[in-house]
Amino acid sequence: MPDKPFSQACENNKRPILSRLQNIFADCSRVLEIGAGTGQHAAFLAPHLPHLNWQPSDVADNIAGIEAWCEQSSGLNLLPPAILDVRHDSLPAGPFDAVFTANTLHIMHWPWVERTFQLLAGLVAPCELCVYGPFNYHGKFTSPSNARFNDWLQARDPHSAIRDFEAVDRLAELAGFVIQQDHEMPANNRLLHWRKAR
Ligand SMILES: C[S@@+](CC[C@H](N)C(=O)[O-])C[C@H]1O[C@@H](n2cnc3c(N)ncnc32)[C@H](O)[C@@H]1O
Repeated sequence: MPDKPFSQACENNKRPILSRLQNIFADCSRVLEIGAGTGQHAAFLAPHLPHLNWQPSDVADNIAGIEAWCEQSSGLNLLPPAILDVRHDSLPAGPFDAVFTANTLHIMHWPWVERTFQLLAGLVAPCELCVYGPFNYHGKFTSPSNARFNDWLQARDPHSAIRDFEAVDRLAELAGFVIQQDHEMPANNRLLHWRKAR
């Protein structure tokens, strides 16, 4: 691959995300990242969270790009990216006591979101779950820019959409997770933190 894939959004949000994960994942040891995308989050977050083993994953088409970022990361705790298509795969080998996913639930079709939480239902407590991205509350956008973003998403794929917090929280509950905190993040994003307690 001549150039690594690049996301400006990742560059913008990686530090605010890190400052939350440093607290939330403080007592964790192995994190599964779902939908790692370019691999920029894994390459940045893993070396800043050296007490964790960081397992990036994504659909097969993204693995080479993630590998390219991981090769240049100083994170010795970064595991080789695993193929995980939530539509039909099972989770990579764990055990995992933390899960991180960013900007994925509004891309995935709703049945894939449901399957993601069915997979997470299989994780053993204790486990922290952090989901970063834009969310709606009671069917309402939190900003005009999120409404415009949703229009853009749906023009690209009518099955993509900013998800309702309440609907995602229901899936999380069914999977055994209880909401701990809903952190406001820059650019009208949230970092949602659930926990499956022992
Ligand atoms: C907008 S990108 C976000 C990437 C990265 N997490 C970030 O924040 O930049 C959405 C990601 O969801 C992943 N994704 C979409 N469908 C998926 C599926 N069925 N299984 C696993 N990942 C999926 C895509 O491959 C992509 O990496």
